[in-house]
Amino acid sequence: MDLTYRPRRLRKTPALRSMVRENIITPSDFIYPLFIHEGEEVEPIGAMPGANRWTMNSLVDEVKRAWSLGIRCIVLFPKVAESLKTEGGEECFNKNGLIPRAIRKLKEELPEMTIMTDVALDPYSIDGHDGIVSQEGVVLNDETVEHLCKQAIVQAQAGADLIGPSDMMDGRVGAIREALDDEGFESVGIISYTAKYSSAYYGPFREALDSAPRALNSKPIPKDKSTYQMDPSNAREAITEAYLDEQEGSDILMVKPGLAYLDIIYRIRQESELPIAAYNVSGEYSMIKAAALKGWVDEKSVVLETLLSFKRAGADLILTYHACDAAKWLQD
Ligand code: PBG
Repeated sequence: MDLTYRPRRLRKTPALRSMVRENIITPSDFIYPLFIHEGEEVEPIGAMPGANRWTMNSLVDEVKRAWSLGIRCIVLFPKVAESLKTEGGEECFNKNGLIPRAIRKLKEELPEMTIMTDVALDPYSIDGHDGIVSQEGVVLNDETVEHLCKQAIVQAQAGADLIGPSDMMDGRVGAIREALDDEGFESVGIISYTAKYSSAYYGPFREALDSAPRALNSKPIPKDKSTYQMDPSNAREAITEAYLDEQEGSDILMVKPGLAYLDIIYRIRQESELPIAAYNVSGEYSMIKAAALKGWVDEKSVVLETLLSFKRAGADLILTYHACDAAKWLQD
């Protein structure tokens, strides 16, 4: 054939392919989510093979392992004892709660590691919602934001580097920024869950923390989070959220879930110069794990290809439960 263009010329050898490669993933792109609990034993999470609820001591070992693999940021999620859960989730701003204690311990043992936290009430809420639920069953915005600000301050006092509001209340980024600044934490950053969708992909995570919405008494509890998390049908609205978070002082914008929302990452990349993070959420992790355990897909190849897709879509950072495995595979 008389062809002018033969794209295969640049695919001929590994050397040529590496020269024209547009995107790569490296361990410092990853943020590694970790679950902790008060127990004395490491507890495997049923729906997330390979992920555990760590104890305080095993958490330190796991974070050191992550560091040695090149991972530079972790995010912590607490499984809170039932007896500490309340309607207002006040345990979230207990200075001696699980999260502040874990942060202090990690900062003692490995001060270089960047620590991100999650700001929302759901692990602490008896109703399993990210905000305070009124007697009428409405998730209250402004009252919730007051609690979130207190939570963020307690996390910053313990040594957190990046505060991650995941609650989707209106105005919380600006309120948290102001609260942090007022307390002298102007160098603590905010990585906001900017476009967080009301998604079924969070199922395994809610099992890990036992944090799903539930009605324990006669109070009407919304059974999902669709009055605050975004409607999966919407894309333009994500740009509005990104614009607001940027105006309110977010340092990094996050899209969540990741895989079914690559178009949202791409759109926000066109609109903002801020770094973008993608959250490769629990359900995405569990689907690959399940298929790999059955021998239906090759785990390493599928994980690395998936992580690369977030970079290609425009993300700079990836929150992923595959972080340590992927970091190891990248060294091979
Ligand atoms: C809490 C929170 C959730 C996740 C991160 N922070 C659950 C939710 O919003 O219901 C989900 C993470 C995952 O599924 O991996 N607000």
